[in-house]
Amino acid sequence: MISGAPASGKGTQCELIVKKFGLVHISTGDLLRAEVSAETEIGNKAKEFMNAGRLVPDEIVTAMVTARLSLQDAKEKGWLLDGYPRSSAQAESLEKLNVRPDIYVVLDVPDEILINRCVGRRLDPETGKIYHVKNFPPETEEIKARLVTRPDDTEGKVKARLDIYKKNADAILSTYSNIMVKIDGNQSKEVVFKEIDSLLSQVQRDEVKLLKSENSVPESGSHSSRAPVSQDKWRGIPTRLNNIPHSREIRNYFYDDVLQATQRSVNDGRTRLRVDINIPELNPEMDVYRIGTLMELIRIIALSFADDGKRVKVCVQGSMGEGALSGMPLQLAGTRKILEFMDWGDYGAKGTFIKIGSIGEQEVSEEDDVFILVAPQNAVGNCIIDDLKAMTVAAGSRPVILINPRLKDLPGSSGVMQTMGRDKRLEYAASFESCYFFRLLYFAGTQYPIMGALRMSYPYRYELYKRVDQPSGTEKYVILSTFSEKPSIDDVNDAFMGKPRNGAKKTSGFWGFLSSVF
Ligand code: AP5
Repeated sequence: MISGAPASGKGTQCELIVKKFGLVHISTGDLLRAEVSAETEIGNKAKEFMNAGRLVPDEIVTAMVTARLSLQDAKEKGWLLDGYPRSSAQAESLEKLNVRPDIYVVLDVPDEILINRCVGRRLDPETGKIYHVKNFPPETEEIKARLVTRPDDTEGKVKARLDIYKKNADAILSTYSNIMVKIDGNQSKEVVFKEIDSLLSQVQRDEVKLLKSENSVPESGSHSSRAPVSQDKWRGIPTRLNNIPHSREIRNYFYDDVLQATQRSVNDGRTRLRVDINIPELNPEMDVYRIGTLMELIRIIALSFADDGKRVKVCVQGSMGEGALSGMPLQLAGTRKILEFMDWGDYGAKGTFIKIGSIGEQEVSEEDDVFILVAPQNAVGNCIIDDLKAMTVAAGSRPVILINPRLKDLPGSSGVMQTMGRDKRLEYAASFESCYFFRLLYFAGTQYPIMGALRMSYPYRYELYKRVDQPSGTEKYVILSTFSEKPSIDDVNDAFMGKPRNGAKKTSGFWGFLSSVF
């Protein structure tokens, strides 16, 4: 995407970029001028706005751009958007469609230079080439004779266009701040192009590296890097996640999101899976934790596999320890009972396609097809890993799905951590492949306000989002970056602060997100 004030040199640079990189150049100014000269309905509507130096209404321009972006050549060769988006509503339209550039270049030129450039600009109506009476005079008398002046290139209209540009620029910048590069446009066009060329060449090299790494990752345990754009039926992150209890709509959104990812994984033949979903209602570290939400999620996943004719065993670990020390980690207390009493549908799935059990080798019978384990967790002196291991060995090639496991050692009431065999346990825990991950992001040590979110849904990439308050009082999540592996806290810090990927200097972690369980 290339942006900048009127006459900052966008069109001039686009000519050079297209020549070198072969991108499809989409200039809303050019598209609109073509409509005006063809005297189409759109052209007739746009004409008065353009001649007055005002913005053409969003709906007209957005429809034109989205139609052009959807053509095959733009998909195959990549695109270069020039002069769009020009308002926050236009930027939002692209975000909603998950259309994001790799880089957002802003050409920076002082106002007085801009006015001179506009007033001296001439266009060749035959080739579309941009000239300037002084800076870039035409090559021949023949070309000179056919040059035209744009009707909006008078001093008065340029000032009006400049004003409108300034009013909108910041609103758009907030959407692209992490991929924005400002270039001094008040240099010769060759020097400006050299800077743009080096940026785009870097983007190209990164893209090639990414493709190579995707092609070289082994089948098991890896995720493909299909872009978020291609995710089936995904509707963006729901807003108002700090309103608790969550609305049914929000809960259904997450149930569906987890279900899709889990089904895609199982259909792809994955067998050791984990789901980590940490919305406030499912975060045991928050006092709004609701066991009912976890149970609903489990029921939806289990019934969906049962609908496919699979026999599902839903397993909850039993109480641990003996005598006065017996007990279960808090949020599982009573879970088994709740599962027994839950409504499992009218057609009697429970007892046939759905069975309730606990965790261990003895729970695996021949007829089971899928095992769903409800929040298995470790506690001091009662490590679940041995039972889990025996169970997965017995399950063989059948899928075992852990929902919100907590397999790191938890401190017991004595405050002592169990350390014996820790490495082996962690290694085993890591053998489960993440098929869904969702976590809200906060400043370190706080749980309000929500700053963003990290989401991964198999087989797509980890997506990092920033939560943005909108002037209308609503909020939205805008994507900052994507990662093929789970990003570290430093990666998240860098993306939030708009630093380039793999910057040599790491930020000290003032962002955090419950880092102990991240
Ligand atoms: P649009 O055509 O996009 O106009 P603009 O943004 O005002 O930009 P310009 O085309 O004037 O300048 P440029 O940056 O491309 O500079 P150029 O390379 O030509 O839009 C026109 C109108 O359409 C808008 O006002 C609006 O009404 C409507 N519109 C368009 N998009 C819209 C949207 N998204 N929403 C709503 N309405 C929309 O260079 C300028 C001159 O400087 C040339 O003479 C050139 O030779 C010279 N020059 C260039 N580079 C240099 C250099 N490095 N040194 C010296 N001279 C240079």
